Amino acid sequence: MRKRVFSGVQPSGILTLGNYLGAIKRFVEIQNEYEAFYCVVDYHAITVPQAPDSLRSQIAHTAAFMLGAGLDPDKMTLFVQSDVPTHTQLGWIMECTATFGELSRMTQFKDKSQGKESVSGGLFTYPALMAADILLYDADAVPVGEDQKQHVELCRDLAERFNSRFGKVLKVPEPLIGQTGARIMSLQDPHRKMSKSDPNPAGYISLADSPDDIVKKIKRAVTDSGREVAYDPDEKPALANLITIFAHCSEKSINDIVAAYDGKGYAEFKKDLADVVVEALTPIRMRHDAILADGSYIDVLRHGARRAHDVSSAVLRRVKEAMGLSLYIDPAGVRI
Ligand code: TYM
Repeated sequence: MRKRVFSGVQPSGILTLGNYLGAIKRFVEIQNEYEAFYCVVDYHAITVPQAPDSLRSQIAHTAAFMLGAGLDPDKMTLFVQSDVPTHTQLGWIMECTATFGELSRMTQFKDKSQGKESVSGGLFTYPALMAADILLYDADAVPVGEDQKQHVELCRDLAERFNSRFGKVLKVPEPLIGQTGARIMSLQDPHRKMSKSDPNPAGYISLADSPDDIVKKIKRAVTDSGREVAYDPDEKPALANLITIFAHCSEKSINDIVAAYDGKGYAEFKKDLADVVVEALTPIRMRHDAILADGSYIDVLRHGARRAHDVSSAVLRRVKEAMGLSLYIDPAGVRI
């Protein structure tokens, strides 16, 4: 039997090059090797306020970009989290499994809540829902970017705690993180990750950016002092980030790129970098546009939700049974 993977992407804005290189490109590469479940996690997106029209449209865009990037409905399952009620059901159980101290230590919560007058309870308990997402599919592995590693580790701890209380019910998953590309940084500040919630759009390349926008953003990207195209993440983090992006978009090694620009300046490097990024993203954007226009993503999501519901209901049933919760009506809503 093939091993399973599960991963999720928030529809909280247009996806960035960071989402693509750190996660979605990988989702596509492994869809043959694993039995894959990928989820547009809209319940996670509402941990911060979302306008209904824009949330609705972001869900469609996110699914269309994931399919446009090469996810194949015949090979993997793609669905929207709020279509499958088992997620919030196991989410509550995981909230009761996690401790306040554990959730308080999550660095993403600390970052996102810092300086805010008011944050939702959901932003705090979010990693428990994420653990439920993963555990519902008996996932062996979770492909994510580096920023999600702490959450996957919490998921492992929760699964182990649950199993030690109630018997071997949950599969303990492993994070699957690329060696490079797992942390694509802002084009304006190499110490911050590239993020779709960056208030300055010059910091990120979105998958919807036109070739012109991409060229402009790369031209304006900060570089470090000096003239030489050298890969040194400690001393030249901005340039190292650009070289990493080049490597992932062109499928060339970092060493080959550094050798190719020996004796050439930043300007030539940036011009070629813009070309490889445009070349990598244009087909994805065009397929996204076509998928959105013909509405073919809707059937994919409908079919995906049914399959996700079948698989996850069986796991939820196992969990409820082990804990002594009621089973008069099973999670699929069928009277037993
Ligand atoms: P999200 O929506 O922020 O990001 C989706 C995926 O993209 C990766 N990523 C990056 N990788 C490299 N460089 C970057 N700059 C960059 N920015 C984002 C993320 O690591 C992620 O893999 N909590 C998750 C969503 C989630 C989830 C799950 C993931 C909910 N349930 C279950 C895995 C399994 C999140 O907010 O991802």
